[in-house]
Amino acid sequence: MKGIILAGGTGSRLSPCTNVTNKHLLPVFNKPMIYYPLYSLKEAGITNALIVSGKGHAGDFLELLGSGAQFGMKLSYEVQEEAGGIAQALGLAENFAGNEKVVVILGDNIFEDNISDAVKDFALQPEGAKVFLKEVKKPQSYGVAELNDGVIKSIIEKPENPRSNLAVTGIYMYDSLVFDITKNLAPSHRNELEITDVNNYYLKQGTLTHEIFDGFWGDCGESFESLHEASTLVKNSHLSTMPNDLSIIYRKQSGLKSENEKHTRVGLHSL
Ligand code: G1P
Repeated sequence: MKGIILAGGTGSRLSPCTNVTNKHLLPVFNKPMIYYPLYSLKEAGITNALIVSGKGHAGDFLELLGSGAQFGMKLSYEVQEEAGGIAQALGLAENFAGNEKVVVILGDNIFEDNISDAVKDFALQPEGAKVFLKEVKKPQSYGVAELNDGVIKSIIEKPENPRSNLAVTGIYMYDSLVFDITKNLAPSHRNELEITDVNNYYLKQGTLTHEIFDGFWGDCGESFESLHEASTLVKNSHLSTMPNDLSIIYRKQSGLKSENEKHTRVGLHSL
């Protein structure tokens, strides 16, 4: 499976910090924001990843991350010429993905939970997609999933009257059909190709599965408040000890263990 990190957008909500660099390179606690989604991929054994960025400051990614060798990863880059939505940015990854399944992470999203088990489950899923939900206080700001008997019934983008408090977070797993779907999407009222429309396509086909996160989810590109909150969450979690080369840190219930010590894998629901 291959990884895709979507790091487009102008970052205007974080101006003036984004005037001379890209939002995804700003610090979250003691690392650049994009290190966290890279770590999530690496922790799940996905070391071949594409970074899709906007035109502004695209070179900064290359300068910071290079070929990915310093992380034991192989990184490639793609530029989204104009902001056209998450699904449009994803469409640019078609050649990179080939016929493989992909794990897509929004570059400003930080996840405490380990997605390794979910990646393994998705590798065995014959077709379709998987989304990851998280209970939130203000679901109106997100795609919101309505569940019935543990099955997703609907996903509505930023509903005025949400039917649940389960947000669809910025991590998605897709089979290669996704690139046919993105080609046939119509722009939404905000003139973007919406990732929620992609997920709803799979939902209609009956091939959309989901997981619910226990650990924190930080959507840190929203505002300075969300950036600050994410920094605090990271500081107080195992992610604060993530090494600069993204070596994998193993978690035990009692605390953290380094790579060469005996470890217990922590699954999605056991944090
Ligand atoms: C996007 C998606 C939304 C999802 C959110 C997660 O929102 O459209 O469904 O819940 O990312 O961060 P946007 O950041 O484009 O407002």
